[in-house]
Amino acid sequence: MDKNILTKTAKALVALGKGIVAADESSGTCQKRFDAVGIPCTEETRRAYREALITAPEIETYISGIILYDETINQKTASGKPFPEILKEKGIIPGIKVDMGAKDLALHPNEKITDGLDGLRERLAEYKAMNARFAKWRAVITIGEHIPSSACIHANAHALARYAALCQEADIVPIIEPEVLIDGDHTIKRSYEITEKTLKKVFEELASQDVMLEGVILKASMVIAGKSAVKQSTPEEVAEATVKCLLASVPKNLAGVVFLSGGQSDEQASANLNAINKIGNAPWPLSFSYARAIQNPVLKIWAENPSTNTAKAQAALLFRSKMNSLATEGKYSKNLEKQRPY
Ligand code: 13P
Repeated sequence: MDKNILTKTAKALVALGKGIVAADESSGTCQKRFDAVGIPCTEETRRAYREALITAPEIETYISGIILYDETINQKTASGKPFPEILKEKGIIPGIKVDMGAKDLALHPNEKITDGLDGLRERLAEYKAMNARFAKWRAVITIGEHIPSSACIHANAHALARYAALCQEADIVPIIEPEVLIDGDHTIKRSYEITEKTLKKVFEELASQDVMLEGVILKASMVIAGKSAVKQSTPEEVAEATVKCLLASVPKNLAGVVFLSGGQSDEQASANLNAINKIGNAPWPLSFSYARAIQNPVLKIWAENPSTNTAKAQAALLFRSKMNSLATEGKYSKNLEKQRPY
């Protein structure tokens, strides 16, 4: 483990005004997204869409890293250049999703455990040879009646810590993502309780595996009422609860926190991130690592006509990246949405 490499990469990922694009949907998830906009999901359409994302002009102004999927890190542009090389040339750090997905947790109905530790050391070595400098592992915590169980939180936290240690051994920065799902009708108070409990367990497990926090990025869920809750949370409520929860459960020496969008709308994700950064008393950079909230308009525009709409789709990506970049500094406002190029 080279502490300097890890610290440097982690700092670069959360550099001022910059965030991460998650473009690491598995082929199954990609199928759902492509079905929703009515285009066929084949290896070639996935390649062409991802090429549009990573070659978007000027995104490096706002984007520090892009997370790829196993298929994608092996793909090339139409002109034959490997995707990670394109990113490197733009000064964007290539990342890779290394978990093998959330599976049913035995003896615990409606709960998940993330697979992927078997053979991970070898896979990390392969990805490193392909220029990946950071990785992602997503754990899923579901809020419902009598869940999450302590068993589910513990098993997922332990797996995250084992994954993080293997990454650091390979000088790859681990993004640890214990996603507390937004699905359900739970209150923001319940979201707070579960998120705090989960994060505390995750950092306990990371400490017990001797993971160096200066070389770790937390990909966190915002503390927010469930999607079907009667009372939805305002950006101010989300910001207050999220910052309080992070301060109560995340050690100060962690390199940074990036949020997932988790099903929030594009604007909501920008407004909430902005409100969080307006509070301004956190010891870590608080940025974004969105998939849906940054890609929604991009995929929609691209899908309307993949052969002619690339530049328009890329302009949408640049715009949402800029909005979220401004939100990392508390400088986003709803008014700016009027300047949308789409
Ligand atoms: P969303 O922003 O769509 O929640 O995706 C983030 C992510 O990378 C999930 O692992």
